[in-house]
Amino acid sequence: MKKSIIIIGSGYVGTVVGACLAKLGHQVTCVDKDEKKINKLRRGFSPIYEPGLEEIIRANLFQGRLHFTASLPDALKKAEVIFIAVGTPSRTDGSCEMKYVWQVAHEIGRNLEHYAVIIDKSTVPVGTAGKVKKIIAGYKKTEFDVVSNPEFQREGSSIKDFLTPDRIVIGADSPRAKKIIGEVYDKIKAPKLFMDTASAEMVKYAANAFLTTKISYINEIANICERVGADVDVVAEGVGMDRRIGYSFMKAGLGWGGSCFPKDVKALHNLAFSDGYDFKLLKSVILVNQQQRELVADKVKRMLGQKFKGKTVTVLGLAFKNNTDDVRESPAIDIIKILQKSKIKIQAYDPIATENAKKVLNHKVKYFSDPYKAASGADALMIATEWAEFCDLNWKRIKKLMKAPKVVDGRNLLERAEMEGLGFEYVGVGK
Ligand code: UDX
Repeated sequence: MKKSIIIIGSGYVGTVVGACLAKLGHQVTCVDKDEKKINKLRRGFSPIYEPGLEEIIRANLFQGRLHFTASLPDALKKAEVIFIAVGTPSRTDGSCEMKYVWQVAHEIGRNLEHYAVIIDKSTVPVGTAGKVKKIIAGYKKTEFDVVSNPEFQREGSSIKDFLTPDRIVIGADSPRAKKIIGEVYDKIKAPKLFMDTASAEMVKYAANAFLTTKISYINEIANICERVGADVDVVAEGVGMDRRIGYSFMKAGLGWGGSCFPKDVKALHNLAFSDGYDFKLLKSVILVNQQQRELVADKVKRMLGQKFKGKTVTVLGLAFKNNTDDVRESPAIDIIKILQKSKIKIQAYDPIATENAKKVLNHKVKYFSDPYKAASGADALMIATEWAEFCDLNWKRIKKLMKAPKVVDGRNLLERAEMEGLGFEYVGVGK
């Protein structure tokens, strides 16, 4: 059933949720304080890189189902369903910065004058739905419900993840809210799991913590594989074929990054700690992830030899993973910083994340818009992001351009036999 929906926050989550809900036939208004972003969206341009997103935005703008505004009070007038998708970045102590969520709750409380369902889409600490409810109720203007509906969208495949999810988790306490949110998602064929709001909030943290545990685990197995002469990719295949374990999130490399995993894992650790529980397993998962970056940086230094100071390394890939321009908590960025501390010079290339990388790295990094130019004159090269295009590079040509043919493949993208056949000194992870 068609609903009038508003999405507050037009970032990586909100923009995709808004565009996809419009595609499902709802009337959607996306709200963001940033007028520049809103104007860009109104013209059909996405503020983020996400494959397929601009096409959906443009089609739904054209069909009159998708609108953008910087005024929340205006947007609230007709809203039946209100998604909160504002940022909840990490604070220095690892806890979630909640001020944007609270600001939005106050603004809704001040302006909402009819019944609506308010949905927390941002990843938030357990208990947030209750707090949002309290804030809005404080204004005593109208009846409303607050629902927790965590997202499980991966950057780069966010649209597919939204439209064909494994499940939709809905934390709702009232039958009225359950019915409405069921209607919001009625065109999506996936199990809808109804539960209390605290459990729904916990599902998101528990899912992300489990996935990071899987990655840190396979990275530790990789480090042992290197010592005993085994190949982690083959081991992961053999282990993952057991349906109780599965293949996904079993790719060893530089460790996990991005906008969600580091933030959510720290927040869960912090949540447990502040409630008097020492989550030892998660603590190790975080430590292993930090260590993995150091280990790969050490491989680069070893390849350069004892006199690594002043030498030049080409880094291919700056984004935290492929198919995104996002560099938040990117392993590539962390490793560049580690190498720079050892006075190693960096030449970098990424198909789309360079502009974002420039905002977080110092001016000493030399950026290139061509991977071959980036490789020219380098003493070693490191693959830091799993961009498919790196597999298709002309490595014979790269070998000629480099000062020394040395590759550290931090994502196990290339074949050792082929690289050695071309005359490269090649090091992967866990093999
Ligand atoms: C993640 C969750 O998957 C998603 O459900 C949630 O809603 C948001 O956070 P995202 O951050 O977009 O999504 O990326 P994801 O594909 O999960 O990868 C996260 C990080 O783990 C990346 O740095 C990636 O390179 C790394 N990774 C992933 C591995 O190192 N090995 C793997 O096997 C999988």
